[in-house]
Amino acid sequence: MKTIAIAGATGAVGAQMLECLHEQGIEANIRLLASARSAGKQIEDWTVEELTEDSFKGVDYVLGACENDVTKKWMPWAQKAGCVVVDNSSAFRLDENVPLVVPEINAEDIRKHQGIISNPNCSTIIALMAMHDLHELYNIQDVICTTFQAVSGAGVKGLRDLENQLKDPEATPEAFAHPIAFNVIPQIGSFDENGITSEEWKMQNEGRKILHAPELNVNCTCVRVPVWRSHSESITIRTEKPVDLDALKERLSHSEGVKLQDDPENNVYPMPIDTSNQDLVYVGRLRYDPADPTHRTVSLFCAGDQIRKGAASNAVQILKKLMEMDEQA
Ligand SMILES: NC(=O)c1ccc[n+]([C@@H]2O[C@H](COP(=O)([O-])OP(=O)(O)OC[C@H]3O[C@@H](n4cnc5c(N)ncnc54)[C@H](OP(=O)(O)O)[C@@H]3O)[C@@H](O)[C@H]2O)c1
Repeated sequence: MKTIAIAGATGAVGAQMLECLHEQGIEANIRLLASARSAGKQIEDWTVEELTEDSFKGVDYVLGACENDVTKKWMPWAQKAGCVVVDNSSAFRLDENVPLVVPEINAEDIRKHQGIISNPNCSTIIALMAMHDLHELYNIQDVICTTFQAVSGAGVKGLRDLENQLKDPEATPEAFAHPIAFNVIPQIGSFDENGITSEEWKMQNEGRKILHAPELNVNCTCVRVPVWRSHSESITIRTEKPVDLDALKERLSHSEGVKLQDDPENNVYPMPIDTSNQDLVYVGRLRYDPADPTHRTVSLFCAGDQIRKGAASNAVQILKKLMEMDEQA
């Protein structure tokens, strides 16, 4: 039986990965790794071990769920031990030797790996799950997107900020630059000289790589909102070919991993409260831009659980495909 280690097993994403391994029926020996702070902690049948240079001996696959700096430190140890890593951080996503994969869109890219496969940014996965059918049918050229990102996107610290501030609005923020309870914060990541944040660049850079669409333009505003879990996104898309909305809805209603939630007259549309703790990305509010009679501009709203499909479930789906490919090789 293969051995799988989860690096960062005590975090928001790592803990979810363990559940996803069970759900997706992957049978393997499991090792749970985290910082020295968590060593000895019991999770289900396993005792968490401190992640050290020797942690990856005898390990076949690693699911990475640590921040970039920690990931960059342990990655050489995993490589030295011959592991294949499916990593959630952004440390290697744009490296040309590292496939960046959403299995419903570009599973075949997994075959090109050289020891590392990256899981895309959470908002990028959710947006692309909503948009890739549109791209295949009508060729997306430009995207304007505003995200509404849940506090758990900033991990355990983000959850703690909202929890503390709901009890005491004066409680000092730990994860965010401002209070998040009863507020929205139009900053995720750090600003560059053009006033664009690191999070906002991800959707264009990663979207181009996943869709194999180097010309794709994305103008994104990322906003943190006081929602526990599930990111939502308002997206306006300009396509090369005119869009047939009925044909698009028909396609989305059969799209793997997507649920069409589009009956506005009955108040049915995607909302984060409905998409939490499950894997489907909900898509709705599909409409033409009345200012574009050519029907080459459409808008939609989507929501998806960013800890699951935006991170852990997507990574475990990649791992499952990789293990199947390895078995067939
Ligand atoms: N949260 C999301 O929705 C989301 C979505 C997509 C991608 N991601 C990415 O996934 C990664 C994990 O995010 P998260 O939200 O799960 O973070 P988190 O809740 O803060 O968890 C971080 C994990 O890293 C471990 N860790 C910290 N320092 C360590 C060290 N020196 N050695 C070994 N392990 C260490 C922590 O262990 P201790 O508990 O022992 O400190 C914990 O298990 C990040 O790269 C993040 O950007 C997150």
